[in-house]
Amino acid sequence: MTENKIGIDDISFATSHHLLDLRELAEHQGVDVGKYYVGIGQSQMSVLAEDEDIVTMGAEAAKRIVDAHGADKIRTVLFATESGVDQSKAAGVYVHGLLDLPRNCRVVELKQACYSGTAALQFALGIVSRNPDEQVLVIASDSARYALDSSGESTQGAGAVAMLVTADPRLLVIEPTTGLYTRDVHDFWRPHYLSHALVDGKFSMSAYLDAVEGAYRDHETRGGQPIQEVDRFCYHQPFTKMAIKAHAHLQALAGRVLDREESQRQLGPSLELNRRVGNTYTASLFLGVLSLLNHDSADLAGSRMALFSYGSGAVAEYFTALVQPGYRSVLRASEDEARLAARTPLEYARYRELHERVDLVDGTEFATPRVTAAPFRLAGVHEDVRRYEPTRPTTP
Ligand code: CAA
Repeated sequence: MTENKIGIDDISFATSHHLLDLRELAEHQGVDVGKYYVGIGQSQMSVLAEDEDIVTMGAEAAKRIVDAHGADKIRTVLFATESGVDQSKAAGVYVHGLLDLPRNCRVVELKQACYSGTAALQFALGIVSRNPDEQVLVIASDSARYALDSSGESTQGAGAVAMLVTADPRLLVIEPTTGLYTRDVHDFWRPHYLSHALVDGKFSMSAYLDAVEGAYRDHETRGGQPIQEVDRFCYHQPFTKMAIKAHAHLQALAGRVLDREESQRQLGPSLELNRRVGNTYTASLFLGVLSLLNHDSADLAGSRMALFSYGSGAVAEYFTALVQPGYRSVLRASEDEARLAARTPLEYARYRELHERVDLVDGTEFATPRVTAAPFRLAGVHEDVRRYEPTRPTTP
C-alpha cells in the first residue's frame, strides 16, 4: 500500500419508492413554481413509502457494494443518520443482519445532524490506515422531514449512500489535511418528541456560510491544498441553491471571482442527483460526489475535488480528494438513473397522507402494506421490535 492512499473504493445510492414533483407542492401552496425550480434549485423530492425507512434504503445501497465485492474484509460498519429508528440499537445492526455480514464485525451509529456521514468517513480512514487489509462499510441514510405547510417543506427528501473505504481505492483518495469547525448554535434540530425537524431557515443559511469560512480557514492554516489546485467542488446540499451560494462565498473568501461558466464547470455536475432527490441530510454531500462522478462529461482522473460537509448545530469539515484513474469503470451511472426514473410520482393529497402518517412511536403494533420494490422492506412493528424482511422472499 502507498502511504496515505486510503479512500472510497466504491459508492452506491438508494432512494425511496415515491417522488413528489415540486410543481405539485407549489400549485397547492399557491406559490410560483419558479421559487422551487430556480429559487431553491429543486425539481423533485423523494418520499418514503410506508414500508421504507433509513434501514431499507441503507441496506439497498450497501447490498450493491457487498454483491460486487463480497463481505469477507468488512470488519466495521458505520451507519450515519439523524433519522434513527431506535434509541439504543444501531440501524446498521439491522443492515448487518439483512446482508448477512460477517459476525466478526463492529457496527455503530453516528449522529451530528447532516455532518455524521463525514465523521464516519474520517473514522473509517483511521481504521483502514491502522489495518490496511480491512474494509469499512460506511452508510449514510436519512429521511428529511419538515412540518407540512412550513417553509422547509420544499427541501425534504430521502436517500442513502453506501461507501466502501479501503486502501488503494479505485475512486477517490482522501487527502490527509482537513479543516474543522464547531459552534454551538440552534439553526436546526429535532427534539425527541417530534418526527420532523425544527429550523430557523434564514439563520441556518448564515450559520452554514459561517461554517464554510471556519472550516476553510482551518484547512488553509494547516497547509491543505490551495484552492487554486482544486478542480471540482462538492457541498452538503440541503437544496442545490445553497451549494451555489456556498461556492460563491468560498471563492470570495479566497479572493476569487468566478464567471457563471467557470462556476458551472466546477460545481454543476454535483447538483444533478440532489436536485431530483432532495435533502438526504447525512447522505447529501456524498450524493453530490456520486452526482459529480456520474454526470461530469470531462475525464476527472487525476483531478482534485474539495468536499464541504455541514451539520446544523453545528459541525463542519472541508477536505480534498483525488479522483483515481479508471474511476468510471467502478460507477453504475445508468443503473442510478434507472433507479431515479423508477420512482412513482405522488399526487399532493397522497403525499400529505403519507406525511401525516406518523411512524408510530408509542408502542402500537402495526403492519405495513407491500409497496416498495427495493430489496428490503419494513414489515411492521411486532412486540416492540421493528421487523424487516427481503421484499422478494428468497427461494429455498
Ligand atoms: N422565481 C425564482 N426565484 C424565486 C421566486 C420565483 N418566482 N420566488 C422566490 N424566489 C427565490 C428567492 O429570491 C430566494 O432566492 P435567494 O435566496 O437567492 O434570494 C429563494 O427563491 C427562496 O425564497 P425565500 O428565501 O423567500 O424562501 P423561504 O424563506 O420560503 O424558504 C428556506 C427558504 C429558508 C431555505 C427554507 O426552505 C428552509 O427553511 N429550508 C430548511 C432549512 C435549510 O435547508 N437550511 C439550509 C442550511 S442548514 C443545512 O444545510 C442543514 C440541513 O441539511 C437542514
